[in-house]
Amino acid sequence: MPLVQDPNLIVGFEKSDDAGVYKITDELALIQTVDFFTPIVDDPYIFGQIAAANALSDVYAMGGKPLTAMNVVCFPIKTLDIGVLKAILRGGLDKLIEAETTLVGGHSVENNEIKYGLSITGIIHPEKVLTNMSARIGDYLILTKPLGTGIINTAIKGGMAREETITKVSNTMVTLNKDASIAMQEVGVSACTDITGFGLLGHLSEMIRGNGFGMIVYAGKVPYFPEAKEFADMGMVPGGTYRNKDFFSQWIRFDSTVPHYLQDIFFDPQTSGGLLISVPRGKADSLLTQLRGKNIHEAVIIGEVVAEPKEKIIVT
Ligand code: CO
Ligand code: CO
Ligand code: CO
Repeated sequence: MPLVQDPNLIVGFEKSDDAGVYKITDELALIQTVDFFTPIVDDPYIFGQIAAANALSDVYAMGGKPLTAMNVVCFPIKTLDIGVLKAILRGGLDKLIEAETTLVGGHSVENNEIKYGLSITGIIHPEKVLTNMSARIGDYLILTKPLGTGIINTAIKGGMAREETITKVSNTMVTLNKDASIAMQEVGVSACTDITGFGLLGHLSEMIRGNGFGMIVYAGKVPYFPEAKEFADMGMVPGGTYRNKDFFSQWIRFDSTVPHYLQDIFFDPQTSGGLLISVPRGKADSLLTQLRGKNIHEAVIIGEVVAEPKEKIIVT
């Protein structure tokens, strides 16, 4: 696609960032994003919540404040009970209320497969935009949610996941990245992205490409759901994990000590994953304190930004 030339376009789609950012005045920029997908859990109300938390997350990852939302709906109205759609929309709306974001409309089409998501519009100061390109050598990398939702969602679809596992993972996916975003804005950080379809290592690759620095990931520190190991060992790995591995492996070097299941988990596409925050070393402790104060207890340092090797990620 030809690139759009517009001096007010602060973040476009060419750098795989979380959302588009468009400057309106010197003090105000718009953030725009859209995301929708097929159900990943059976409960329509929870699915609606997950879809909304996932869509809002791109605004939070930019350090912005979501303002308005529009529903995007595909639904087989002739064959499925309208109550299912109502429950999905109710779930989405409840998350928007929690996010203090106003639903202003939406669009639905008849389709033989349910799909739901939202387009979110947010605001930010043009100089406070946190892109995925602005990490600095010496930064620590902090991840705010455990990994493994893609693998576990595959197990859920295969009827392999226990009810308590589904509940636990759903609770994580419906959790807004709002508080984590507020914490990082208060502390002041270098860069941020949310971990979604590219998985941890895919999103980290996007942060180093063309930037002249590398990263080290401490494999033993990365939080993940223990069930993800169990299901990965059984081969319940989504196709997206293999696609991520195929594409992003050129930037990754695994130590021989990193077990295979962890490689799967690190490439696993996440739904409504956590924020990956690149924070100056001297501010890492205060960010972790802020995050814990907001009940984000899984947040930990999982790696660092290094000068060498350039544009490679060492997983050790
Ligand atoms: Co994103
Ligand atoms: Co997105
Ligand atoms: Co970002």
